[in-house]
Amino acid sequence: MEYRHLGRSGLRVSVFSIGAMTFTEKGWRSAGTMSFSEIQKVVDFAIDHGVNLFDTADIYAFGESEILLGKALGHRKNDVIIATKVRGVMDEKDPNKRGLSRYHIIRSLDESLKRLGREYIDIYQLHWWDNHTPIEETLETLNDLVREGKIRYIGISDFAGWQIARSVSLQEMNRWSKFVSAQMYYSLLGRDIEFEVVPACQDLGLGILVWSALAGGFLTGKYSRDREIPPDGRYARMEKPFLRFDMEKGYFVIDELKKIAEKYDATVSQVALNWVKSKPFVSSIIVGVRSLEQLKDNLGSVEWDLSEEDVDYLDQITQPVRPYPQWFLDLFAHL
Ligand SMILES: NC(=O)c1ccc[n+]([C@@H]2O[C@H](COP(=O)([O-])OP(=O)(O)OC[C@H]3O[C@@H](n4cnc5c(N)ncnc54)[C@H](OP(=O)(O)O)[C@@H]3O)[C@@H](O)[C@H]2O)c1
Repeated sequence: MEYRHLGRSGLRVSVFSIGAMTFTEKGWRSAGTMSFSEIQKVVDFAIDHGVNLFDTADIYAFGESEILLGKALGHRKNDVIIATKVRGVMDEKDPNKRGLSRYHIIRSLDESLKRLGREYIDIYQLHWWDNHTPIEETLETLNDLVREGKIRYIGISDFAGWQIARSVSLQEMNRWSKFVSAQMYYSLLGRDIEFEVVPACQDLGLGILVWSALAGGFLTGKYSRDREIPPDGRYARMEKPFLRFDMEKGYFVIDELKKIAEKYDATVSQVALNWVKSKPFVSSIIVGVRSLEQLKDNLGSVEWDLSEEDVDYLDQITQPVRPYPQWFLDLFAHL
């Protein structure tokens, strides 16, 4: 396993980490279900193969994911890095069981600690921006919790570039604890973060934790334009696709991935994950699985790299159109 620094922090994380959004026996949104015995197998295999980071959130199956992750880690729970999140709606009827207020963050953190059976969280992440709370209130609360020892590092998720820059500037001005990670969607079918988020993170020292690197399983080889959507896959469970990409373009990319996979005697998932791994701004790829078999497939991309030529080819066929002002800045950057 390769380990990379989490942004400009001293923390080293495995380049592949495990996402616990699927750790639910009851099901949550389109994630599907997993039996506890399968979760246990996934966690054991991951740790045995060098994974040292596990990601969950308070809202994943409304706390069940944190409970099952804590249970499966058992006595090893203090030997791995646990990342969780706050922001989502935990109770529709309670207006304060959501968001990034001081009130909710303190309460939600205590509840996450109880569910995980931990005394502290290694990486505590703001799940997404809260328009209804002043960001200063949120950042000062996080700083207090770091000082209290309940949180080791802090990160964001799904922020826009300007929201990252504004937050870190305030942290610097007030000498508050600074964000070290940004958990963002990034895949061959979704490269939007390259324009604003990645440059902001590189400038300010945040490492990227990638979610849905396989586009929710679309880039695994089990979806094809000539076949029905497999009934046991996530795309069959979704009312409408969550990630935004053009299906036809998606199928074209899958065809190209298949050709590359053949050259390496690898699978489509392994090539798609390897392309994400080739990006130096990525600290870790949070893989989501519903079975040990899927995890074995995905971790099959650990030990080898795509050639520069193949990375360039995949870059080129999935190149997004550069929006304004990026193309303008490119034009005049040399002056
Ligand atoms: N911060 C955020 O907003 C955010 C959002 C989403 C996720 N996340 C985090 O990122 C993690 C990963 O996200 P994700 O689950 O969307 O990632 P993903 O890796 O793109 O998709 C995972 C899903 O793809 C299918 N799959 C995975 N490997 C496969 C293989 N080798 N062969 C066939 N199918 C395979 C499985 O679904 P099926 O078998 O059901 O098809 C699996 O549950 C989550 O657990 C969570 O921790 C964060």
